[in-house]
Amino acid sequence: MRCEVHGASFRSADADALVVAVREGQDAPSHPGLSRVNAAAAATPELFAAAGFKGEADKTLVWQPLRADLPKRVVFVGLGKADAVTEETWRRAGAHAARSVGDARSVAVALERDDVPRVVEAFGTGFFLARYKFDRFLSSAKEKEKRPDARLLLLAPDQPAEEAALATAPVVEAIVDGVTFARDLANLPGNHGTPLVLAREAQAMAKREGIRCRVHDEDGIARLGMGAFRSVSLGSVIPPRLLELEYGSRRPGTPTVALVGKGLTFDSGGISIKPAADMDKMRYDKSGGAAVLGVMLVAARLRLPVHLVAIVPCTENMPGRNANKPGDVVEAMNGKTIEILNTDAEGRLLLADGLCYADQFRPDVMIDVATLTGACAATFANHASGLFSNDDELSRRLTEAGNETFERVWRLPIFDDYEQMMKGTTADLKNIGGPRGGAITAAAFLRNFVNGRKWAHLDVAGTAWDDAQRPYHAGAGATGVGVRLIVRYLVATYGRGAPPARTRARSGSSRKARAGARPTAATKAKPRGRR
Ligand code: BES
Ligand code: MN
Ligand code: ZN
Repeated sequence: MRCEVHGASFRSADADALVVAVREGQDAPSHPGLSRVNAAAAATPELFAAAGFKGEADKTLVWQPLRADLPKRVVFVGLGKADAVTEETWRRAGAHAARSVGDARSVAVALERDDVPRVVEAFGTGFFLARYKFDRFLSSAKEKEKRPDARLLLLAPDQPAEEAALATAPVVEAIVDGVTFARDLANLPGNHGTPLVLAREAQAMAKREGIRCRVHDEDGIARLGMGAFRSVSLGSVIPPRLLELEYGSRRPGTPTVALVGKGLTFDSGGISIKPAADMDKMRYDKSGGAAVLGVMLVAARLRLPVHLVAIVPCTENMPGRNANKPGDVVEAMNGKTIEILNTDAEGRLLLADGLCYADQFRPDVMIDVATLTGACAATFANHASGLFSNDDELSRRLTEAGNETFERVWRLPIFDDYEQMMKGTTADLKNIGGPRGGAITAAAFLRNFVNGRKWAHLDVAGTAWDDAQRPYHAGAGATGVGVRLIVRYLVATYGRGAPPARTRARSGSSRKARAGARPTAATKAKPRGRR
């Protein structure tokens, strides 16, 4: 996957395919400097009429011009009415383009002057994310050959657009790599994506990107006093792991954001076992953990000016002989005791200890991401994630980032009455609040572990995988939800760092553009204020 920038002199015939975005009713898109595209565009009124193509959103027209001065394929992607075009329109256009270019290895896209950088980021991420397929367990080599690694060539009409595209290309690559990393982890079947594998993958990624990484094993988890998290792991023969990643400067003045992700590698429900139907989907129960790891990757790659911590408790939830039993009482890291009335409400047990651990970094903001409740999926289907927070400003920013990235979130309240519903009789808390209000009572439970810090909880139970298939989710399984959302939140709140500038691609040039983009090598992590 590579995103290159080319100037006006690029001969579009040198690409396997050319993509031209068309607004509804616009029949001859003109691209200054791209004379050959213009020549092609001159043919569009008849072409569009013959095909009944008007540039409507989500519609495409594929043209094979059979002309030496044009690529083999020209793909017109509709954007719909000009005044209704949003970032999401461009993301979907990128996805439709990706699915219409056949086996093209190099795909040029003709940009207009004010397209960059917003459009480039959206189109590019949509393009590459639509090409994603989780195929590592398909033995047919053919299947893989069909989708060769693609180069997206951004054809800039003039110098300023070229500069802007050069700055945006590495952003596209970073975001796509982060989402892809998250999808790959979340998609792993339970027997392959064990806590040990997640730990190994996180460590390898951290090393590649220059992020500090520590992995705590079962003894470490026990020593830390994580009785809630640990109790969930006891039903499985596969040992748990606590992943701790840390990026950026710890110096005062640099804001600290702690991310906590649910890394439940397979949720059978435990002794309160789930019904058989769709239980296979519970391999996606590590999507929150996968997402926060993806955010770390992007943050490091883009050198975001923030101190980021990711905490991912990883375990299976299985009905083994030492498993939690309904009625058992456990103690979380902050000393609060919990009565486990349903062993299937295990995510909040992991997160309770994860949040306590994150608190030691004295974060300015804590955000947890988890496939926490079926109730949340029942409320929003797959069109939004649940947002729960003790801070209006944080909620506003996350909502805005969600609208922009189309990883939409919607806030639900945590009235004190909901917290009342979680009070225990034998212990301080119980882990279920009854049959109603399930998404909210889960959030109310978590609030007991945030130590009054600014905190947001994202329940991604409905959005972590997508059967309804947005164009850039196509065939993906896990969506990687949370990565683009949180990265956008971080950039909007703390600004962009200064990722190294990319030079313009020359013909025949290759990957070297990213050399030198690595932050400094990993050092050993030790959180501030550790007891
Ligand atoms: N991982 C599930 C939540 C889930 C369900 C995610 C469906 C995605 C789709 C979580 O651990 C769980 O089982 N929650 C229970 C809580 C209940 C027992 C209070 C649920 O939602 O049924
Ligand atoms: Mn469960
Ligand atoms: Zn679960």
